[in-house]
Amino acid sequence: MRLSDMLLREDFYKILADTVTEYFHLVHNREVAFSYKKTDGSEKLIVNGMLGFISRFPAPSGLRKFMLAEFNVRGSKLKFLVGKAAALIMSTFPQVGKQQNAYLVGGTLGKNTFISPQNRSIRFFDYDAMTVDCIIKSGFTSKYFVNQLAFRKQYRYDFVLPLLEHGDRWFREIILTGHPLARVTNETQYQKSMQETIICIGQLAADTIAYEESSGYAQGLLTRITELLEEAEHRKHIAYGKQTMQMAQTAMDRIKSHPMPIPTCIGHGDLQSGNIWVDEAGKTWIYDWETAGRRSVWYDSAVLMYSLRRAYGWQDFLSEELPKDIYSCDPQKVRTQDEITVIKAIILMEDILFYLEDMLELPQNWGAQIYDGFANRMWQLLKDF
Ligand SMILES: Nc1ncnc2c1ncn2[C@@H]1O[C@H](COP(=O)(O)OP(=O)(O)O)[C@@H](O)[C@H]1O
Ligand SMILES: [Mg+2]
Repeated sequence: MRLSDMLLREDFYKILADTVTEYFHLVHNREVAFSYKKTDGSEKLIVNGMLGFISRFPAPSGLRKFMLAEFNVRGSKLKFLVGKAAALIMSTFPQVGKQQNAYLVGGTLGKNTFISPQNRSIRFFDYDAMTVDCIIKSGFTSKYFVNQLAFRKQYRYDFVLPLLEHGDRWFREIILTGHPLARVTNETQYQKSMQETIICIGQLAADTIAYEESSGYAQGLLTRITELLEEAEHRKHIAYGKQTMQMAQTAMDRIKSHPMPIPTCIGHGDLQSGNIWVDEAGKTWIYDWETAGRRSVWYDSAVLMYSLRRAYGWQDFLSEELPKDIYSCDPQKVRTQDEITVIKAIILMEDILFYLEDMLELPQNWGAQIYDGFANRMWQLLKDF
């Protein structure tokens, strides 16, 4: 998530100051002052709005490593070069792209440490220790955090980063070298890592598979959607409540018309290429397990293989009559047309739930716009589903 989007969404500077103070209190047992006005004995930090980091000047060497890994833009050569140039320039001169000065008691931030605000958390990258501390943003609920922690404690696969240390609102892990898959420019490596990811989630699925009867499973989803929609209309004032209910109801009818056993498994929940990492040795890691949980075996594969998180993803998925790429975790590799209709309806309900939960885990009325954007897209696509 870009810092410019956070500035629009949330009271970013207050959240940053409160979270940094809380971090030093919880993790380092130090009471520190972090403010935007110069005080005696404080060290100046630069909040770089363009690339979204907080660092001292001169910038620590770790910042350049991180930025060069993050700004490895796929697609066009020009964007790639512009990304690299911006990363290089701003990690050398953080004042370029400066948003604000901040002041922290001198000597508090590690020599090779910088701060990187994320969607729901703030990360402290320490390139001397090669570890990163992740703490929930002040004012944000801990449901997703607790879920991630529980998953990572229970499922110790070699594609899940081990936790080095943790508290109630923070954890520590190693810094990965390499790139998020979304930033891997070598096409062969990209495809290899997609395949590896499928194998990883296939392993997790095989170890946790359980069957449920389709109408019971779908009814569970519908009940949850109904509850969350009510909350979303009340708390977030979303505009697409009625349409969402109608889409979920139509999906339910489709599922009822063709009863079948539904294979479910523990999965990631948000398996997009930004949550997969390819390290320098070419090894694939899956991270950001906030939304891990039990869903149908098709959900993660569909999100990954049809890029459901992107604007065009659902359109591609729906237009495919035999979406063979979603069977990687399914013990049954061939499905009839009727079954495919049920599968698509189930994935739709699971995806509605994903977006509803995602929005409801943000404070205040934030996230309603993103939800309505999703629901509107789906509504246009599904009018005659
Ligand atoms: N262990 C790590 N090493 C290096 N970078 C990381 C690590 N964990 C997360 N990141 C970076 O931080 C970003 C956000 O982390 P993530 O857990 O996906 O949170 P969010 O919920 O904000 O997406 C990632 O996209 C990645 O760029
Ligand atoms: Mg992520």
